[in-house]
Order: sequence, then structure tokens, then C-alpha cells
Amino acid sequence: MKTQIVSMDEKKIDMEMLRKAGEIIKKGGLVAFPTETVYGLGGDALNEESSERIYRAKGRPSDNPLIVHICRIEDLAPITAQVPDAARKLADAFWPGPLTMVLPKSDRVPGATTGGLDTVAVRMPGHKVALAFIEAAGGYVAAPSANRSGKPSPTLAKYVTEDMDGRIEMIIDGGEIQIGLESTIVDLTEEIPLILRPGYITKEMLEKVLGEVRVDRAVLEDGSKQPPRAPGMKYRHYAPKGELTIIGGAQERVVDEINRRTRSMQEKGEKVGVIGTDDTVAGYLADSVKSAGSRKEETTIARALYRILREFDEEGVTVIYSESFDASEEEGIGQAIMNRLLKAAGHRLERI
Ligand code: TXA
Ligand code: MG
Repeated sequence: MKTQIVSMDEKKIDMEMLRKAGEIIKKGGLVAFPTETVYGLGGDALNEESSERIYRAKGRPSDNPLIVHICRIEDLAPITAQVPDAARKLADAFWPGPLTMVLPKSDRVPGATTGGLDTVAVRMPGHKVALAFIEAAGGYVAAPSANRSGKPSPTLAKYVTEDMDGRIEMIIDGGEIQIGLESTIVDLTEEIPLILRPGYITKEMLEKVLGEVRVDRAVLEDGSKQPPRAPGMKYRHYAPKGELTIIGGAQERVVDEINRRTRSMQEKGEKVGVIGTDDTVAGYLADSVKSAGSRKEETTIARALYRILREFDEEGVTVIYSESFDASEEEGIGQAIMNRLLKAAGHRLERI
């Protein structure tokens, strides 16, 4: 299959091209598109065969449910069995935006889209190209992140092309993604809303709207010990090819320790990569040293993380050390960054 690649800016939306993209979806085809979190791999959420094609294109197990993307709040009711008050409040507060809600599904959503579950995950993305594309596609677009299963989610279209060229009909290149980590997922079928995946919308932000909110224990623990509620969180995700270890502790000691380990790995013939920050990168001795950004601005770190993991793969790095990004007092997106980093590291975190 020949994959058509088209470029589109949020400021200059090409309606003609989006109509074409929408037609592809309506015919059961697949189109990758930008959202504010990561690139998505879209298919018709109400068409069983489209969802099966998504799983095949990603190489993803089909028990791992897809998120249904909508472009109008009114479109929530037809795909859910009922819309609880909490969902309306969250939609008013955070949609369009990086929040996914899990709700009981209606019969219109095929089991192939929800991995056989009787719940459906829904989100209305905060990206103009995404919203216009969903509308052109008929209103319901199932979209996982547009990476091959096991690779970091794409934050640049070139990574979508790397993973999906020849497997899907079209890729819409919308440039670099804003947030860089996938949406927050909150399960509203529980008595107390439960965060299944942390993201840009934090527990504190949800609590301001809903009152008490809990976080699934599997979020910051080793998923193999505590089975997670979001089926997708149990797979080893975001894995770089190099073996990644996170080193936590006081800044100066961490730099010294990583340099000590770097030397010993280099003696063994390994190619070493380091993930540091603007304040520390000058002090590292590794073959490839990258700054994730500034600790004072965690959003820069969120945006850079997946790109850095992919770059290490491209450079053939075999061993990676990362500084730790422990969730700070004012939690912010720190918890989401650490959640993804721990998964990429297979939970190898050493505190010194
Ligand atoms: O930001 C995002 O959410 C991106 C963009 C493209 O919108 N999408 C994304 O999709 O991250 P994906 O498929 O990579 O991750 C979806 C996660 C998986 O962990 C899946 O198990 C969980 O959502 N999920 C989907 N439906 C669910 C349901 N009904 N109940 C519990 N978890 C669900
Ligand atoms: Mg994903």
C-alpha cells in the first residue's frame, strides 16, 4: 500500500484534504493524525473491521481497547449507555483537551473497538486539525497512538512514517506535538473516579471538579505485581532498544554515579546514552548526552521524552541512564513523566 503524507498546520486547515481523509475512514481505511498529546492512528470506531485493521497495523494485541475520539460533546451520549453527572462536569471543564473518560458503552460501539469490554474510553482532543478530521470522518474515530506496539508514542510525523509507512492510507503531518505524553485516563464507572493513566490533566485538577479521585495503584508500581485496570498499561510500552536504568538522588551524586557507570560500560564496549537536564548535561561523559529540558518547566521534559528515546534507538545506543523525575510537591505532569519513564525502564530505578 502507498501511504500518502500531507502536511497541515492548525492555522491553515486544508478542508479539501481533510474531506479526502474522512472518506478514507468512512471506507474502512486508516489515517494517522496529530492531536495535542501524541499522533493517533485513526479508523472508524463504529466499524469492527476498521478496529481490526488498527490492531494489525500496530502489531497490537486485540484485547487492548482503543480510545474513541469525538469532536462534539453531544456525540458522547449515543456511544455510552448513560452519561453520568461527573462526565458532563469533566467534559465542560477539560474538553476539548487531553482527558479520556471510561464509561459504560452503548450497543453502537463494537466489541472489537473496546477489546471486548462493556465500557468505552472517549476523548475530545484539543487540536484543530484533529477535530476537523474527526468531523470529516463521521464523528467517531478510534485511535491508539500511531506507533508500532512496544515503541514510544510518536511526537513527530517522521516517527509515524517510520512505523506505519506502507501499512495505512494517509499520514497527516501537523508538526511537533504540544504535550508529548498520552491523555489522562479516568474511569467513571467506579464509585470514586479512578485515574488509570496519569497525564497532563492531573489528579488535583480533576478533584477541583469532582471531589475525591483515586489513582490506580498500578500507575507507579511495577505492573507485573499489580494488574492494572487499563488493559494497555500491562504491556511493556515505550521500550527503547538500549537497556534503560533510572538513577535517583541528589543531583551532583547522580551525575558522578552515572559517569562512573558510563565508564565501566564503555570499557565493555557498550554505547552509552544519558538523559539529563539543562542544568546537568555539561557534566556527563557518555557517548550521547541529551537534555530533556528544564526541571523548572516539566512540560518541556514531557514533550522531549519520547523523541529522545527514539533518537537513542537511531544512534544505536545500547545502555541508557536517566536522571529521575520524581513527582514534585505540586505534582503537575511530573507523575505522568515518571510513569512513562518507569515503564520504558522496565521499572529499573535505583536510588543512591
Ligand atoms: O492521548 C491519547 O490518549 C492518545 C491520542 C492518540 O489520543 N491515544 C492513546 O491511545 O494513547 P492508546 O491506544 O495508545 O492507549 C489507550 C489506553 C490503553 O492503555 C487502553 O488499555 C486504555 O486506554 N483503554 C481504552 N479503553 C479502555 C476501557 N474501556 N477501559 C479501560 N482502559 C481502556
Ligand atoms: Mg499507545
